[in-house]
Amino acid sequence: MIANPHVRPVRTSDPGTMAEETARVRWPRIVQDMIDDVEQTVQDQALSSSMKEEGIAIVQKLKTLKSDIIEDKSLTKLPDHEDPDLQWFNKHIMSPDTNTWRDAPWLLAECYMYRHVQSIFSDSSFWARYDVFQRQKESTFLNSKTAVQELALQYTDTVQDLRDLSLSTDQQFSLFSEMTQVALWGNATDLSLLTHLSLEELQSLQERETIRQSEQKIVDNDLPEVWSYLNSATYTSSDRKVDIILDNSGFELFTDLVLATYLLDRKIAKQIRLHVKDFPWFVSDAMRSDVEWLLKALRSDDLSDHTGTGVLCSRLEDFFASGELDIASHWFWTTGSSYHEMQERAPDLLADLRGRDLVIFKGDLHYRKLTGDGLWPHLTSFKEALGSLMDRPGLRLLSLRTNKADVCVGLESEEQLDDLEKACPNEGWVRNGKYAVASFAQAT
Ligand code: F6P
Ligand code: MG
Repeated sequence: MIANPHVRPVRTSDPGTMAEETARVRWPRIVQDMIDDVEQTVQDQALSSSMKEEGIAIVQKLKTLKSDIIEDKSLTKLPDHEDPDLQWFNKHIMSPDTNTWRDAPWLLAECYMYRHVQSIFSDSSFWARYDVFQRQKESTFLNSKTAVQELALQYTDTVQDLRDLSLSTDQQFSLFSEMTQVALWGNATDLSLLTHLSLEELQSLQERETIRQSEQKIVDNDLPEVWSYLNSATYTSSDRKVDIILDNSGFELFTDLVLATYLLDRKIAKQIRLHVKDFPWFVSDAMRSDVEWLLKALRSDDLSDHTGTGVLCSRLEDFFASGELDIASHWFWTTGSSYHEMQERAPDLLADLRGRDLVIFKGDLHYRKLTGDGLWPHLTSFKEALGSLMDRPGLRLLSLRTNKADVCVGLESEEQLDDLEKACPNEGWVRNGKYAVASFAQAT
């Protein structure tokens, strides 16, 4: 799977890893949350009796899945209905590499779990389009109301006000770095690192404590390279096309929309596509319906009475109406493959992405897939860990990810590694979500 023979994907049996903890502790909890959600919906008086009956059967299947995980059984074949993706899963879970839930490649077993759940729902008559995570996604976003309003106001106070001003090169870069970091830390579990923008502060942006502190936690920060690429002779065209391969809905999606609005407002991009998932995935990942829901929520009485939110929302609606902002999806985003297999499994998608000027991958799971979820030495370059994605020219890729798994590459020196280990021993900095990467690579 990974071209380098010395590197293998992390397994759920690797002691002390996030993989091991996730399989042992987190998956049973996540499946229990799904059971609770379906049971709550089944209680609904208005539900037809056939739907209730089917809901109860779904709960039983989810309970079996949960006990299989807890009892560390083998992964069971999915009813494939000739679907090539399900056949791919069935082939891989039967390989000698995959033994039981707690002795399997982490990436494969985790994606299989969400695909399995999707099969349970999609094989039903009444629950086929049910989003078992919808309640969680919506309530989490509504709980972040204050942060949403603050960020919207900061955005309108700065970027909008700055629209007609000509900024120095340094100021332009500072603004770019700031807006990109808003989207980066939107992927964090701890949102306290969110920075505060103001017109005055922009003048002395580099000195600002919050920026300095959060920047120190970006263990591979290629934003200066991205900026110089965007300003390089080849790509100063006014019709730059940027893709954002989205991760989570709710607050993170909101920060991604802020970044997209900034890129369009400042004419850094002419067109932006947001890639969503086709079905519920890794609890909080964004689907088309989540983007639509978020736009409605921003317009709701609860949020839109607020100046910043209203202005931002109008900008977003204009961009969607003109096609400058658009939503895309592809079946490959919800498979168990790492992106080292994109050329083989989804050549159309890869060719499409190669035609874009910049592709931004959000979040931890995309990073794991980009790097094959491999146990690379941390000093490996990001480009090397991308493997075959870099084989042919075209792809210009930025990964914005807070570190929540076992893989992390792109560190500069042993000294940097030692410092991180001192601050956060036993690779805590790779897993605890307090550190991040903004890693850039170009295939030339
Ligand atoms: O915390 C680990 C984890 O749940 C992984 O399973 C997964 O890679 C990641 O978090 C999901 O995070 P994100 O939404 O950033 O992709
Ligand atoms: Mg996610």
